[in-house]
Amino acid sequence: MSRIYVFTAHGGPETQQLIERPVPEPGPGELVIEVRAAGVNPVDWKIREGRLGIKTSFPVPMGREVAGVVVAVGSEVEAYAPGDAVLGLVAPGQGGFADHAVLRAKDAVVKPEDLSFAAAATIPVAGTTAYDLTHAIELKAGETMVVLGAGGGVGYLAAQIGRVHKFNVIGIASEAKRDLVESTGATFVASGSGAAEGVRALAPDGVDLIVDLVGRQPLRDIAPLAKPGRILSAPDPDTAAEFGGSGRPRDAEALAKITDVMGHGVVTSLISAEFPLDQAADAVAAVEKGHAAGKVVIVP
Ligand SMILES: NC(=O)c1ccc[n+]([C@@H]2O[C@H](COP(=O)([O-])OP(=O)(O)OC[C@H]3O[C@@H](n4cnc5c(N)ncnc54)[C@H](OP(=O)(O)O)[C@@H]3O)[C@@H](O)[C@H]2O)c1
Repeated sequence: MSRIYVFTAHGGPETQQLIERPVPEPGPGELVIEVRAAGVNPVDWKIREGRLGIKTSFPVPMGREVAGVVVAVGSEVEAYAPGDAVLGLVAPGQGGFADHAVLRAKDAVVKPEDLSFAAAATIPVAGTTAYDLTHAIELKAGETMVVLGAGGGVGYLAAQIGRVHKFNVIGIASEAKRDLVESTGATFVASGSGAAEGVRALAPDGVDLIVDLVGRQPLRDIAPLAKPGRILSAPDPDTAAEFGGSGRPRDAEALAKITDVMGHGVVTSLISAEFPLDQAADAVAAVEKGHAAGKVVIVP
C-alpha cells in the first residue's frame, strides 16, 4: 500500500486526510515515482478551498510539484527507466503529497546530481514561475525590477534570477525577511504603507518591471510606479490588468531551463521547513498562513 494526502470536500484544513491506496500503475506516457520530496504551494490550499473553479470528484489528491525515483514506466516512455531520479509536475488529477506519484513523462526532467531531492521538488511550480516572470519581458542590465513578496517561495528565486541578469532588484517583504531578501543581492524595502515611498526613493524615474507575488492592495500601492505594461502578477492578473499588466506568461522550456540553472547552483531555493508525510497538515498550514520564508517541503 501507499499513502497519499487528500481533501474530501471543498473547505478548510479539516477536509484534509492521509489515506492509503495501492501503489499506482503508470498509464501510457506516464511514470510512477517513489516521492522523496514534494514542494508545498499556495495553490494546494486554494484548490482545496475551491477558489480556482477546477471541476473534480472527491477525494482530491494534494501536492503538485515533486522529486523522486522512478519505480515504473508506462508504454510509450523511452526517456526514463526505473531507478532514474527525476523532478516534475504530477499528472492531472494526481497528487504529490504521497509515497508514490504519477507524472507525465513530458512534464518531468532528470534531477541534476548536485541538487537534493528537497531542492529539486521546489522547481516544477515555484522555480518555473520565477523563471516565467523574470524572462517574459526582457530587461537590460541595470534596469529596475521590483519583486513584491521577495521572501516567499517564488519571490526569493525571482530576486536571485534578477541579480544573475544584473538587474537592479528591489525586494519588498516584511521586516523579518530583510536578511533573506538582502542575501539575494536585492535592495530591501519593507512591505506595508511605506512600500511605494521606499521604491520611489530608490527608482525615481519609475520601475522597468514589477514581479508580483502578492496581488490586491499591496500591488495597487506600487503599480503606478511601473512603466506602461510592465507588471506581471502570478496571483492576481486582474489587478495587474487594471494597470496595463498581465498574469504569469508561460514558457514551455521553463522547467528544463530553470532546472539547469539551479542544478549549477546559480540560483538556490531556501527550504525553511521539512515535514514528514504524516505531518502534511502542518506543512500546508505553514504555507496557508501566507508568510512562509522560502519553501516548505514534505519529505515522505
Ligand atoms: N499563476 C501561477 O501559475 C502561480 C504560480 C505560483 C504561485 N502563484 C501564486 O503566487 C503567489 C506567491 O506564491 P509563493 O509560492 O511565492 O507564496 P509564498 O511562499 O507564500 O510567498 C508569499 C510571500 O508574500 C509575502 N507577503 C504576504 N503579504 C504581503 C504584503 N502585504 N506585502 C508584501 N509581501 C507580502 C509573504 O512574506 P511576508 O511574510 O514578508 O509578508 C510571503 O513570503 C501565491 O498567491 C500563489 O498562489 C501563482
